[in-house]
Amino acid sequence: MNPFDTKPAPIERTFESFCELYPTPYDPRETDPYTKCRVILMNGTEFEAVKFSHQIDRHIADPDLRRELAMSRRIEQQQQKKLANLKPIGESILEHTIGYEQLAVDLTAHLAKRVSTQKVKDALDLALLEDFDHLYRYSDLLEMDAGEHAERLVGRYTEIMPGRPTISEHRFPTDGIPTPLGADAPLFDRLAACIITASEQQTMNYYMNVTGFYGNDLGRKLYQEIAMIEEQHVTQYEALEDTNASWLARLLMHEYAECYLYWSCEQTETDERMRKLWARHLEQELSHLHKAAELLERFEGTDWRQVLPEPDFPDPLRLESNVGYVRAALLSAQLTYKDHAPKPVQELPGKDPFFVYQDAVHARLDHVASHAVIDATIRRLGHDYRFELSPHPVTELQPREVDNTQIGRDPRIPGYTGVMPG
Ligand SMILES: [Fe+2]
Ligand SMILES: [Fe+2]
Ligand SMILES: [Fe+2]
Ligand SMILES: [Fe+2]
Repeated sequence: MNPFDTKPAPIERTFESFCELYPTPYDPRETDPYTKCRVILMNGTEFEAVKFSHQIDRHIADPDLRRELAMSRRIEQQQQKKLANLKPIGESILEHTIGYEQLAVDLTAHLAKRVSTQKVKDALDLALLEDFDHLYRYSDLLEMDAGEHAERLVGRYTEIMPGRPTISEHRFPTDGIPTPLGADAPLFDRLAACIITASEQQTMNYYMNVTGFYGNDLGRKLYQEIAMIEEQHVTQYEALEDTNASWLARLLMHEYAECYLYWSCEQTETDERMRKLWARHLEQELSHLHKAAELLERFEGTDWRQVLPEPDFPDPLRLESNVGYVRAALLSAQLTYKDHAPKPVQELPGKDPFFVYQDAVHARLDHVASHAVIDATIRRLGHDYRFELSPHPVTELQPREVDNTQIGRDPRIPGYTGVMPG
């Protein structure tokens, strides 16, 4: 589909009433987990749309442009409100978090399978194992605090077991900042950078906000710790976006990504009511995209084809199970992100800033919440909570009676001893 070939309604004809903005929420038990993930993904995409539009407002003082931005931004806000209220009242902060991390795993894996630029794939593969580990740590908290098994929430589509242990994910702030993609990068890779930046930013914001609202100290500390990793993820992904593009060229790219995502949601949705909602939002986004193209021409004299020379949408983005891909990626649990590229911790010099930062933030092992939550589960149950379809592919991460705090941060641990499943 070429979204520029459509004739969308003017933005002023797309406002919705508060009645339309308060839909019946999804059913926490019956709704497919990937439908819930799509709601989280698009909620995050709308946050980015709103925030990016506000940033343009703060950098360009042209009153005509500001009025145009205010029009589409009001719709982005309406869309976000509708998506936020699809979450049912009874779904807890932590249950909702499981959806965030399942989305992070299966969105990241899907993008990593499809991108063709090595540095984008490296960034995705690296963070994939970290969000995968977050899913495991939060799931153990859910088992401890609510006696609930997260495998039900993820529909058994996504395994729940250790990834790169969260304790090992804390890197020196200047590590892991890749160089940007150029305007000539493949369209899907540019889209991937946009999409994953918004999604990880939403996770970061969610944890920043809910940390203080969780009901016990261990949970508050776990949100606090994992939120710091989401900060790293946003830093690495936003660095990939094309910084040479103008504000309005980037606005066009934002609207194009929104169109592509709603179109993908509509193409892949299994719930008929939700499919109609995605279709409705796609119509609104097409109006934004055409407006962004008009603004680019009017204020910068640039034709949209210069930004998007191949405007046909790539194949739809699909949220689905990625068990095999994640299992293969787990063999890279020993990697960290050094400068612009992943590197095994065993290859870092002894005084590397990675170790300096690790020592600074992990003064005492029993104060590391991501470790403490597994330790506490083991003390209570005799083993951790996990959901595996077959033994863990990394031998060192197979034992369930002890939490491994060495993989990925202790250079004395030899390289890859993992075994691929047969
Ligand atoms: Fe939007
Ligand atoms: Fe995460
Ligand atoms: Fe993340
Ligand atoms: Fe939009």
